[in-house]
Amino acid sequence: MKAKDETPAEGLDAVANPAKTALLIEALSYIGRFKGKIVVIKYGGAAQVNEAVKLGFAHDVVLLQSLGMLPVIVHGGGPEVSRIMKAMGQEAAFVEGLRVTTREGLSVTEMVLSGLVNKEIVALLSAQGGRSVGLSGKDGGMLHARKMQHVQGVDLGFVGEIESVNPSLINLLLDNGYIPVVSPIGMGGDGTTYNINADSAAACIAAALKAEKMIFMTDVNGVMKDGRLVSSLRAPEALRLIDKGVISGGMVPKVEAMLYCLSGGVGSATIINGGDHHAIIAELFTDKGVGTQITP
Ligand SMILES: Nc1ncnc2c1ncn2[C@@H]1O[C@H](COP(=O)(O)OP(=O)(O)OP(=O)(O)O)[C@@H](O)[C@H]1O
Ligand SMILES: [Mg+2]
Repeated sequence: MKAKDETPAEGLDAVANPAKTALLIEALSYIGRFKGKIVVIKYGGAAQVNEAVKLGFAHDVVLLQSLGMLPVIVHGGGPEVSRIMKAMGQEAAFVEGLRVTTREGLSVTEMVLSGLVNKEIVALLSAQGGRSVGLSGKDGGMLHARKMQHVQGVDLGFVGEIESVNPSLINLLLDNGYIPVVSPIGMGGDGTTYNINADSAAACIAAALKAEKMIFMTDVNGVMKDGRLVSSLRAPEALRLIDKGVISGGMVPKVEAMLYCLSGGVGSATIINGGDHHAIIAELFTDKGVGTQITP
């Protein structure tokens, strides 16, 4: 416990500053609301940029757990996959934000996502005092997938779409105080490995867990339109913006995943900028939140 005379200036300041006190009260009300609730966080590859930001992310996730929330991390790792593929002389190609995945590309993707990136996140959380377990969607038959059909006439190779999610392994870990960290690699009934877009993996997991909240962390502030952030977006308008091409590339599967979350019973879905320090805290513990929230 903090001794009363330890930081007299700070203590007085908080009381003397009503805005600060109001902010504290606001934040505390959210702690009760989220206690014991599952929060799924999609940690995008685009947000895994520099060491300070990664450390801030791990710090915030461990803080959420210590406040009684049940965080589940589902990660991407696109830039790292592309970097290592390039070093190995392989070319990365995308159609509507989805990575075309050849057999060789699949091996690299699985190695990087389920190995390098997954274990780096586990290590980061561990260094912040969190207990976490890294899993691939293959473990415990979590992500059951099938080959995705052609997109714009292009065969995407070993890109899969999720048929069903078995969340029992995640629940087992949550019940025992671990933070599950899941890589978006799924498996077909015949054992075929599939590369799954991490946004849809996260959304399907959030829906299967009936999560209270789904947060997508990426490298932009949210959905941008005419150079400005759209802080709240209704589902029909989101679909219109995809049609018009205002939402494109990696933002398409993300917004579609958000819509899936809402239809799947997840409380709310928000995109935030993972590059902003403590963006998760600002989103969860303030009335206004940050980023783009999608509503039905
Ligand atoms: N209207 C839009 N508003 C914001 N970003 C957009 C929009 N249209 C396209 N984008 C692009 O979507 C990108 C985010 O998706 P991207 O797939 O690159 O990141 P990620 O999902 O966080 O990472 P990963 O796919 O590795 O998990 C942005 O960096 C931006 O270039
Ligand atoms: Mg993406």
